[in-house]
Amino acid sequence: MRQDTGQIFKIEDYQPSDYLIPETKLTFELQPEATIVTAQLQFERRKGVEAGTPLVLDGDELSLVRLELDGRPVDASGYQASPQQLILTAPPASARFTLTVVTQLDPSRNSTLMGLYRSNGVYCTQCEPEGFRRITYFYDRPDVLSVYTVRIEADRATAPTLLSNGNPVEQGDLGSGRHYAVWHDPFPKPSYLFAVVAGDFDVLEDSFITASGRKVELGIYVEHGKKARAAYAMDALKRSMVWDEEVFGLEYDLDVFNIVAVSDFNMGAMENKGLNVFNDKYILADEATATDADFANIEAIVAHEYFHNWTGNRITCRDWFQLCLKEGLTVFRDHEFSADQRSRPVKRIAEVRTLRAMQFPEDQGPLAHPVRPRRYREIANFYTATVYEKGSEVVRMIRTVLGAEAFARGLKLYIERHDGEAATIEDFIRAFEDASEQDLSQFALWYHQAGTPNLAVTATHNAADATFRVEIEQSVPPTPSESRKRLMHIPLAFGLVGEDGQDIVAAQIEGAQVENGVIHVRKRKHSVVFHGIPKRPALSLNRGFSAPMTLSMEQRPEDLVFLARNDSDLFARWQALNTLLTDATIRAYRAVSGQANVAHDPNLIATMGEMARDDSLEPAFRALALTLPSESDIAREIGANINPDAVFMAREGLAKAIACANADQFATLYGIHDAGEFRPDAASAGKRALRNVLLDYLSLSSDQPTYAAAQFASATNMTDKAAALTILAHRFPGHVEASAALARFEDTYTNDPLVMDKWFQIQASTPGANAVEVVRSLLDHPAFSIGNPNRVRALMGTFATLNQTGFHRDDGEGYRLFATTVLEVEKRNPQVAARLATALRSWRSLEPKRQEAARQVLVMISSREDLSSDLRDIVERILS
Ligand code: ARG
Ligand code: ZN
Repeated sequence: MRQDTGQIFKIEDYQPSDYLIPETKLTFELQPEATIVTAQLQFERRKGVEAGTPLVLDGDELSLVRLELDGRPVDASGYQASPQQLILTAPPASARFTLTVVTQLDPSRNSTLMGLYRSNGVYCTQCEPEGFRRITYFYDRPDVLSVYTVRIEADRATAPTLLSNGNPVEQGDLGSGRHYAVWHDPFPKPSYLFAVVAGDFDVLEDSFITASGRKVELGIYVEHGKKARAAYAMDALKRSMVWDEEVFGLEYDLDVFNIVAVSDFNMGAMENKGLNVFNDKYILADEATATDADFANIEAIVAHEYFHNWTGNRITCRDWFQLCLKEGLTVFRDHEFSADQRSRPVKRIAEVRTLRAMQFPEDQGPLAHPVRPRRYREIANFYTATVYEKGSEVVRMIRTVLGAEAFARGLKLYIERHDGEAATIEDFIRAFEDASEQDLSQFALWYHQAGTPNLAVTATHNAADATFRVEIEQSVPPTPSESRKRLMHIPLAFGLVGEDGQDIVAAQIEGAQVENGVIHVRKRKHSVVFHGIPKRPALSLNRGFSAPMTLSMEQRPEDLVFLARNDSDLFARWQALNTLLTDATIRAYRAVSGQANVAHDPNLIATMGEMARDDSLEPAFRALALTLPSESDIAREIGANINPDAVFMAREGLAKAIACANADQFATLYGIHDAGEFRPDAASAGKRALRNVLLDYLSLSSDQPTYAAAQFASATNMTDKAAALTILAHRFPGHVEASAALARFEDTYTNDPLVMDKWFQIQASTPGANAVEVVRSLLDHPAFSIGNPNRVRALMGTFATLNQTGFHRDDGEGYRLFATTVLEVEKRNPQVAARLATALRSWRSLEPKRQEAARQVLVMISSREDLSSDLRDIVERILS
């Protein structure tokens, strides 16, 4: 594996390459253990670069077989080759020359899943961000664009399907059981978008006619016998293609578009030009094996990768510091797509929940970095929630700030200007500035400054002069290596809600720029005065989550209950309720810690019942309203000296109070809300979601596994079955009904790894001290495999991120089991190990005993001498 060199990459060190590679011809002679790659690279010296300037190419664990310059072998004095670099010391003085590089690879032994690897009999590549250099020596950087022609040769019996980027050109037989295929991609692309796949697949075929009338052949390649499970992904793909034409005017540009689903994959999916490669978890689905959440993820990720064809591929990144240029924008696009295909407010709530769960802890801890970072040691560690999720929020804010029309003009200008180029965030911002004639320099701090901004707000009403005064003060907390922060431009959407639930329009507003329901906070303090407000309104802030920030505001509980019931913005209704639930839990937490009993506000408890039965609200929204903030949400709000056991008890207490007070009602509603025959659409899924939240409350109030056991037995889809099993396992651990259901599930799905992942997840997230032992024994389960990223994430990832009481067991055993596993994983796959290790990033917010135990395992890992650059980077940053 790649060991740490200690090298830090800095944005200001960017230099264009000395040479360009207009054309790349690759031949893969695929063999499981000895694949030969012949790369014929046409080089062109860049204007202004002196003739004879040495050519320095990247490699990673490469072994060079042969090197030719313009068809003649290069003698030993003419080059230096190591596993990580090839230097042609004195290239020809001519402006153009061709270098032929032959390397030999062992795809079977490549367990990193970067570069070319072979698993389950499938040859597959993953090149983003720096995997191409594991295939051949190259300028493995996103700003060197080349036109690729790829010839693949393999055994016909084991690899009848041979795929690469672009369009198919030719295929044929080679005798002795070998065959070949040639692919040509006319669009110049960086090496990270290159892909080859060879194996034995079933293919689901379809076609699409673009807006301008071109026919595109579509194919989804899956394991034999799983073709039917690709139907939903195909449907999502076609809807994505239509949507991108209709909403953004962007059409597909090749004759074929292929997707391959593989079972060993480091991330979710990859947007290689014309050949997307997916983790099969995000392709395969049917009602019997996938949950509604799986369907929604598949739709979003298929769309995401497809949308990259323009935002990422046609316009790519100058360097990896610009990663958010493609990722933030493409996440924004997939969010919009899902919002259009499903329910916009429900989608928005889900996005905010994810942002808070994944990005806020990153931004508020040792791994905080700007959306557009300026430094990195290991770029693979920057595929973060900050780059993706916060990056998307920043694009959304540009739309809020400029308005939908100017935003659309800006995006169009960006695409026209930079099509075929490798661009920067500065280029992106400039397009919006030019299209809108607005200055976005203060706004651009969202890209450059890490940390979650806070707005402290107080409001006072003066009946005598009918004014409502809102005092706003912004601050950005310090983050690693950025102690002093500059003032940001924060678009704060708001409403003044009157007694009748309608928004009040002020006669006049002073103190800030206020437009279309948005206060533009730009200074440290604003005193915004609304005139003509005779009665005190309820203040609704950050409607629709207009900015990724935290709010500090003393709000009267009765105002929050009022907003939860009446705000015209559904997100704000959910938020008001969520704030009340969080506050109630924190109050109980303080009491639990002090061994006192807490009574919860009957008004809040009653509002929960009201939400559950309000037929004017869609079921999916009601399900979200009834879902309590998670243990980590609550811990994040508490902030310091956290005792996860006390958080758990406080949350359970509130859940029980809600369940018992509304027991009859929830039982009736559970009976009514049957979604009927399975359909994967959002409305049907919403009904199932509501019903399953109700089932959890019923199980809690009755303290009996009967309801859940009955649903488990009768469920005809995986959503209802997995929900019932979760309740049985989590609420009734050790109970005979729980054990029987787990055994039954295991029995039914032993041969279906993706479903077994759910079985691992449910057990790994079962709360309590015993979880450590459960997880330890599951590591030895025959269905578990330390080399498969999905298995590792399902078991150890779930344990470390979703099991607060188990993972943070006060004797530190959870951390020790975790650390041992991380090191085991690292031997095979440093990238997955490093990602896993981030679960320890919030260790400093724990109470002292747990803090010390967590620190010890972090020190233990970091003191290993042979750490990969991936894991060392993460662990050292977490400890610093
Ligand atoms: N570009 C891919 C996506 O977001 C992610 C690939 C990241 N892969 C990696 N090994 N870091 O769609
Ligand atoms: Zn992406």
